[in-house]
Amino acid sequence: MDKIVIYGGKKLKGEVVISGSKNSTLPIMFAALLTDEPVTITNVPSLIDVDTTIAFLNFVGKKTVKEGSIVKIYSSCKYKHVAPYDLVRKMRASILVMGPLLARLSKVDVPLPGGCAIGARPVDIHLDAFKKLGVEILVESGYLKTFVKNELKGTTINFKFPSVGATENVLLATVLIKGKTTIVNAACEPEVEDLASVLNKMGAKVTGAGTNRIVIEGVDTLHGFSHEVIPDRIEAATYIIAAAITKGEVVLKKVISHHLKAVSDKLKKSGLCIKEREDTIFVKWVGNLKSQNISTGVYPGFPTDVQAQWMVLMCLLEGKSRVKEEVFENRFLHVAELKRLGANISMDGKFVNIEGVKKFSGAPVMISDLRAGAALVLAGLVADGKTTISRVYHLDRGYDMFESKLKKLGADIKRIHSL
Ligand code: EPZ
Repeated sequence: MDKIVIYGGKKLKGEVVISGSKNSTLPIMFAALLTDEPVTITNVPSLIDVDTTIAFLNFVGKKTVKEGSIVKIYSSCKYKHVAPYDLVRKMRASILVMGPLLARLSKVDVPLPGGCAIGARPVDIHLDAFKKLGVEILVESGYLKTFVKNELKGTTINFKFPSVGATENVLLATVLIKGKTTIVNAACEPEVEDLASVLNKMGAKVTGAGTNRIVIEGVDTLHGFSHEVIPDRIEAATYIIAAAITKGEVVLKKVISHHLKAVSDKLKKSGLCIKEREDTIFVKWVGNLKSQNISTGVYPGFPTDVQAQWMVLMCLLEGKSRVKEEVFENRFLHVAELKRLGANISMDGKFVNIEGVKKFSGAPVMISDLRAGAALVLAGLVADGKTTISRVYHLDRGYDMFESKLKKLGADIKRIHSL
């Protein structure tokens, strides 16, 4: 299993190009199941989760080809309605196959999903929505066996929580069915908006994406599309924090600055110099930062996917600070590893209390989930001496060319390949 070795202490300087958004790419790839016409998706990041989705689509009945950052998807044969366990267990987003196949085949069997280690991550909001649309659901030997008894019909669906995945699944399930569907308390994330813009390019009638109330008027058929995926706001936030923590000066290219407002505002408040243009962000450390408390929230709040990276920065700033995780019930798996590097952190339910320390000392650490992995890399960039990070496959799920981008910015980082 590969490891990453970092010798800390280098300031990051230079330019980094942000890749396409993982969390936008995946639902857009699943949207290809809604049409038999060819589909082209550009600005696609090179990630394990994209490869998993390609394998998934090919299994179900598409022919999917990725060349560089371009993915082309063609229909090749009749769709299968059963999703393969070994792919679903690797990626929670596999559940997004349900919406399109229920719309196209009126049935789909999916193993109960896997994915990151963060919390139980139930799918009740997805299933309750499907039931309201007319889907019957049986759970049999670890599989969700779902089918449409009569017909899927549009209705009003009230989410108990603005789930990103459930919003996307309902969009994918309802663009092709009779009648009007209204999602109340929908997720407002930019990735939901990006999916909706693709569906409308295909001929769907979706309004209100990006707000808490989305209305879908069903249509009879959808055609192919060509679409450039939006930049990855979580990757961008990770590099901004990397610049801050190493006291460097970094220019981020190909970003959508306003997607990062919650993170940039907090960092500006702490004293980091950040200048935004439409697709470029200039970051410069100009003096000691002041620690800030954060509470994660749904968009446009502080992203839960940046919580771990933020925590590492706070661990190295003078004084006390608190992190409250409001989206997932167990997203502090990185705390134990940060303590091994010298962090002074204590957990208290949804809260983590941080007392800033002067430095981290490099040590061997292990990644538990994707964003915890990013946090450990950031910690290694500033720890004294050598930090060896194992289970880097978690990182490869969500960060495109992470080491080479950091190396280009001046980090002393390398990957040790081993079987
Ligand atoms: C998406 O996950 C992202 N993944 C996650 O990014 C991100 O952290 C999350 O949204 C929140 O922004 C993708 O887009 C592929 P949710 P998703 O449904 O859709 C609970 C990363 O690092 N919930 O909005 O799974 C759930 O347990 C990943 O890139 C239910 O209770 O997130 C969680 O506490 C990690 N029942 C909360 O809602 C449900 O049916 C948010 O989940 C669904 C969710």
